[in-house]
This record gives sequence, structure tokens and C-alpha cells, in this order.
Amino acid sequence: LGIFTYDPAFFSTASCTSEITYIDGDAGLLYYRGYPIEQLAEKSDFLEVCYLLLNGALPDATQKAEFVHKVTTHTIVHDQLMKFFNGFRRDAHPMAVMVGVVGALSAFYHDSLDINNPEHRDLAAMRLLGKVPTIAAMAYKYHNGYPFMYPKNKYSYVENFLYMMFATPAEEYVPNPVLVKALERIFILHADHEQNASTSTVRLAGSSGANPFACMASGIAALWGPAHGGANEAALTMLEEIGDTSKVAQFVQDVKDKKRLLMGFGHRVYKNMDPRASVMRETCYEVLKEQGLENDKLFKLAMELEKIALSDPYFIERKLYPNVDFYSGIVLRALGIPTNMFTVIFAVGRTIGWVSQWNEMMAASDRKIGRPRQLYIGATRRDFLPVDER
Ligand code: CMC
Repeated sequence: LGIFTYDPAFFSTASCTSEITYIDGDAGLLYYRGYPIEQLAEKSDFLEVCYLLLNGALPDATQKAEFVHKVTTHTIVHDQLMKFFNGFRRDAHPMAVMVGVVGALSAFYHDSLDINNPEHRDLAAMRLLGKVPTIAAMAYKYHNGYPFMYPKNKYSYVENFLYMMFATPAEEYVPNPVLVKALERIFILHADHEQNASTSTVRLAGSSGANPFACMASGIAALWGPAHGGANEAALTMLEEIGDTSKVAQFVQDVKDKKRLLMGFGHRVYKNMDPRASVMRETCYEVLKEQGLENDKLFKLAMELEKIALSDPYFIERKLYPNVDFYSGIVLRALGIPTNMFTVIFAVGRTIGWVSQWNEMMAASDRKIGRPRQLYIGATRRDFLPVDER
């Protein structure tokens, strides 16, 4: 192989150094900037976690207030941007709309943006944090034919997102603190996860010096797949398909016969319980109780599936445990969020991870364009023949 190593799917390649997120997959540990995810999910709030990921330390009260103010003032999108939505069919998947409309932000913020200037990068981060939830809520409203709801700055970040999703011009919106806390947790748990497929995509796109808003669109595209962020949607669809606890055993058999994958199970890095999944399972109980859904059929089904899978040698030998997406779909559904918006919610939470990782890369003194090599297995040299001689 000469000077390079063949590592398809990057099982053993570190593509960068990073100070942002630490994972110990065997021990089931996840830390943001040194803080265990469980503590952040329990005691912090999403914007504080955003500050931490972006800047490396938790903010003091003044820094926090300034940060919240900055993000809040960037929640409005340009009037022209709203016109992009009309180009999409109403039945377009909201992730397709996200790829297009977030990418379109690059047309609004390009010429005056110097990506080598830390202040400009910070402004790009504030714009993304402010505008991605607005675009996500608009994608939902557009899909359903409802009028867009402009952001309201009197609300917290998460309250405002729920407001833009569920409020209508005709009715007063009253945020439910239990549901707000649940979504806050979902965002915190999804905020960063080191060099996963979408983050690596953002870094690779950004390494060429490309516009950061366009880079985020590339991350959204990578996130969409069912092996990555699309797993929450796929996991819930799977539970709906199984439909009844009596069908769980047959389903598990199909998985063992390699006819299906158990969506929401397994992870490239975690060979132990995904620590995010434990927090999410607790959140499931809280939200279902609040919504009067303690006997929720799909949750019961998920618990049964988990019990069978965790005691089956097939899953034990392969170290397959539930990941965060096994439960997040149930919580999102209980919040009233439709299945095709699940991965969009993941993208809203992950935006801070993408932009923090992009910023870290851009700030590095040894930045180089990412350029993997390949193992060529095609034809050897041959001579061109004119078409009538082939
Ligand atoms: N159901 C059944 N078998 C599985 C599963 C699963 N979900 N995941 C892996 N396996 C089996 C796989 O068939 C293989 O078996 P064998 O050794 O007999 O060939 C073995 O376990 C190792 O799997 P792998 O494909 O080498 O593992 P990977 O690291 O390439 O894939 C994964 C990781 C997450 C893509 C995979 O586990 C998967 O597709 N899971 C379902 C989708 C999912 O839940 N994804 C969300 C990940 S967490 C959120 C995020 O970070 O985006």
C-alpha cells in the first residue's frame, strides 16, 4: 500500500485532533469539553451547552446572558429566504427542504464573510444557531400547509422552537415546562458526537475553505441516512411495523437471520450502553407520564424488544446495545412531532456540534485540505480505440 493505510469506513483512522468531545465506547462514556453528558442533561440548558462546545468553557452569568441575546437576535430569516420554500413540493421530505434552505443561507452570507477571522466565524455560528430552528419549524409548517410563525424572542430557545412549530395565529401558545425540558435534553444529547459521518462531512467540506452555511448543508445531507441521524425515524417506523408485542420474537428472529436491522441498536463506537440512551429512557418515562401515555403501545413494544435483544446471544456477542435513537423517537412522538421531522430535530441539535468542529478546524494553525487516498482496483493501462474499432 505504499505510504498509506487502507481503512474503508474509517474503523481505525483518526482524522483530526479535537478538544471538544470525548467518547470511551467500551466504558459507555461521553463528555463535552470534559463534562459528563449525564450532568449536562440534568443540570444545564441547551444554549449553555452550545456556549461550552463552541468556546471550551461554561459561561459565567454575564457571558451566558450575552450569548443568549446574540443567538436570539439571529432567529429571524431574510424575507427572500422564505421564497425558497415555495420551490419544494409540499410532500417533500423535510430533510430535503433542510438541505436546500440551510444551504441557501450561503447565498445571503458569503461576500462579507472572512472565514479566517474568528469574529466572523463566531457570527456565522450565531446565525446558524438562531436560524436553523426557524428554518426547521418552517419546513414543518410548509409541509402541512400552515402559516409560518415568526420567532418570538420572549421565549427561551426551546420554547421558541416549540412555539414556531405548534402555535397558530388563532391561538395563544403556552409552553409546557415538562415538554420543554424533554426537548432541551434531546438537543443537549445530540449536540456533538466527535467525528461521526455528518461531522466528518462538515470538516471535509470546510477544509477546502468552503462557505460554512454550505458546509452545514453537507452535514445535514450526511445525517439524513438511516444508519446515522435517520435512525430515529427508522426506529419508530420499525416499532409501528411490528405493531404488537406478540410479533417481537419473530422480528428478532428476522434480525438474527440478517433479513432486517434492529434500528436504534448498535453503534460504531459504543460497545456498551450508549450513555445518551440511558438519559433518553428516563426522559421517555417523564414525557409519557406528562402526556397521560403511560400505557403507550409503542413504548411497551420498545421495552419488550429491548428486553429480548439484551438477553439474546446474537446481540450480546456483537455488543449491540440500544443507542439514543431507540428512545428519542418515542419522546418526539409524545411531544407531537411527526416522524418525518425526527431527523430534522436531530439536525437542529447537532448544528452546534458541526459549527464548533468547523470552527476548531478553521482556527488550527496547521489546517490542510482533507484528501483521503484510495486503493485503485480498476483496469491497467490501455490504449484508446475510435468508436468504430471497439
Ligand atoms: N441490528 C442487527 N444487527 C446489527 C445491527 C443492528 N442494528 N448493527 C450491527 N449489527 C451486526 C452486523 O450485522 C454485524 O454482524 P456480523 O458480525 O454478523 O456481520 C455486526 O453487528 C457488526 O456491525 P457493523 O455493521 O460492522 O457495525 P458498524 O459499526 O459498521 O455499524 C451502525 C454501526 C450504527 C451503522 C449499525 O449498528 C446500524 O446500522 N445500526 C442501526 C442504525 C442505527 O441505529 N443508527 C444510529 C446510530 S446512533 C445515532 C448516530 O450517531 O447517528
